[in-house]
Amino acid sequence: MSVELEFVMIKPDGVKRGLIGEIISRIERKGLKIKALKMIKMSKEMAEELYAEHKGKPFFNDLVEYVTSGPVVVMIVEGPKAVQVVRKMIGATDGAEAEPGSIRGDFALSKARNIVHATDSPEKVEKEASIFFKLDELVDYDYLHAIY
Ligand code: PPS
Repeated sequence: MSVELEFVMIKPDGVKRGLIGEIISRIERKGLKIKALKMIKMSKEMAEELYAEHKGKPFFNDLVEYVTSGPVVVMIVEGPKAVQVVRKMIGATDGAEAEPGSIRGDFALSKARNIVHATDSPEKVEKEASIFFKLDELVDYDYLHAIY
């Protein structure tokens, strides 16, 4: 079974609301393997790089200011179709629209404070992950919960 990597970030609202454990727990219970994990305070430069595709949009400055306002938890997870799987688990961007049962559907009510970010296509995972991690920070180990 071929597996892929996905980059996930718990945003400052997720951290401040005490949802780190809830989100990591959902990822583990699904069977995805955590390959790298840390809490950091992002710089403005890192935020601008992560969200470069949105530069020039009306919300860009608010977004950068917000994600740099407090700590975030960043991680790289691995599993079959990990990008598609995680994107489904987090739900639609707008928490008010996201399906109940998804992370945003259960914990968010807006687009601006939507708890969690995950890369939206496999081609972009390396670019986003490399803003936060060096290659040698990915750890490999036997993962007993891997059910694939
Ligand atoms: S777009 O223009 O449709 O591509 O944008 P969208 O997918 O709705 O949102 C892209 C990311 O910007 C965040 N966002 C905001 N952050 C702060 N303030 C405001 N007003 C705001 N509007 C959108 C949104 O949460 C998306 O972030 P990620 O981390 O990718 O989910």
